[in-house]
Amino acid sequence: MPIETWFPLAIYYEDLPDAIEHRSQLIDAVLKLEQSGGDARNYPEMAWTGDLHGVEQIHLDPNFHWIVEQVETHVATYLQELGVDLSQVELYIQRAWPIVSRSAQEVGAHCHNTAHVSAVYYIGVPDEAAGDPGSLVFFNDARVNEVSPGLGSENTNIMDAENDLNPLYAAYVPVEGRLVIFPAKQRHAVTMNETEEVRVSVSFDIVLTAKSQAAGVYEFLTPPPTQWKKFKL
Ligand SMILES: [Fe+2]
Repeated sequence: MPIETWFPLAIYYEDLPDAIEHRSQLIDAVLKLEQSGGDARNYPEMAWTGDLHGVEQIHLDPNFHWIVEQVETHVATYLQELGVDLSQVELYIQRAWPIVSRSAQEVGAHCHNTAHVSAVYYIGVPDEAAGDPGSLVFFNDARVNEVSPGLGSENTNIMDAENDLNPLYAAYVPVEGRLVIFPAKQRHAVTMNETEEVRVSVSFDIVLTAKSQAAGVYEFLTPPPTQWKKFKL
């Protein structure tokens, strides 16, 4: 009795070989930005995220040159694996920001609605012996096999077996030096850092546009920003 599965979500990851050489310099750079980011704009149980605190352009900061190059390389590979013809698109880092998660902090569920591809790089992760550093959790919102909507919810609790055909989420434990890439529209969260140590990462939002000469040919692709005109308001 074969059962075939279709429509997989593609999550890419790579352990960057020279991560350790950049670790302390990147941690220093992130912690300095956290200090300079102004007043906290979120609840104490939420990790400090640069995008909420005016620190969202690390892609233009020379301190992050190495990881920006890595992101560009691996996002290109990811998109090629997804079947994208890179010769017909331009890719932009739209924003990039650090995240500092201290003890008992987490990041609530969200999507990166203004981007197409997102990436996260783990600069510093608490040692395994320190406890659970919190995982990146991707939610299975599509639930293509949930034959009756709500069947898998905790309020209904009718499902009596968890298996590969009905997962509610996929969790990625952070690994120091690992780059993870995923579709920006994929809803996700980061569970609580249950250690006493700090977890430091950086996130990137990437946008695809048409190439200049191809703009207007592809109806559903955004023209490149060089062809936009800002309102005189
Ligand atoms: Fe996110």
